[in-house]
Amino acid sequence: MRHWPLTQLTLTTPDLVLRVPDDAQLDELAQVAADGVHPPGAVCFPQSWASGTPEEAASNVVQNHWWARGDWNDDNWRLLLAVLHDGQVIGQQNLSARDFRITREARTGFWLGRRFQGQGFGTQMRAAALHLAFTSLGAERVTSTAFADNAASRRVSEKLGYTPNGVRRLAVDQHLVEAHEAVLTAERWHRQAQQPILAEGFDACRHMFGVLAAPEPVDVVRHV
Ligand SMILES: CC(C)(COP(=O)(O)OP(=O)(O)OC[C@H]1O[C@@H](n2cnc3c(N)ncnc32)[C@H](O)[C@@H]1OP(=O)(O)O)[C@@H](O)C(=O)NCCC(=O)NCCS
Repeated sequence: MRHWPLTQLTLTTPDLVLRVPDDAQLDELAQVAADGVHPPGAVCFPQSWASGTPEEAASNVVQNHWWARGDWNDDNWRLLLAVLHDGQVIGQQNLSARDFRITREARTGFWLGRRFQGQGFGTQMRAAALHLAFTSLGAERVTSTAFADNAASRRVSEKLGYTPNGVRRLAVDQHLVEAHEAVLTAERWHRQAQQPILAEGFDACRHMFGVLAAPEPVDVVRHV
């Protein structure tokens, strides 16, 4: 789409492609959510968008994408990317920020359909978002939050070099949950071995993130 440059952005990892979904892919993504993201009763997100009926979960996904597009602002943006494996939509990777041009800080969120979990895809999709944040956007910090009992999400952060950044208490569905915050700095990211990730089409949409100049190139980039 010529007049929504984010549709030109594509991130490619060894096994995955991440992009703003077209209508057919958004429908597929909604079906992945309808088929289940977490076991019944599990609490993974501050808003329980995936806890209702399959129809509610699917509709929440579609509306969330439409809302994030409609609400997009270069001072307050939420990039919601569909994650594809072998051409099949398997989940969603988010990267968002408020006042990024000043804070240089972004945050991530992610989910996969249950049948696609535990195969290393979560780590690759988060790494793709980190590549976009640090290499394309010039972020200085990226944060992630996972509830205390979300071992998979917390392990992904640990594997990618995040360090603990405190614990917050939240009420979700009238229950107390502990949200563990983690942070990864650009300095640490650039120092460690990285998966080969390609970001294409970013120049066309750079301005949409409130970033006008390309970040300084970093000399030391090692690949695993
Ligand atoms: C969180 C999520 C995106 C991670 O994706 P994934 O593809 O399952 O993650 P990966 O396979 O790349 O890595 C998961 C890691 O956690 C580990 N792990 C998973 N469950 C675990 C458990 N119960 N105890 C300890 N470690 C666990 C895995 O062994 C793996 O680590 P390893 O590579 O060192 O063996 C996915 O599990 C998911 O969608 N969960 C439901 C939604 C959700 O919780 N979203 C995040 C909200 S913060």
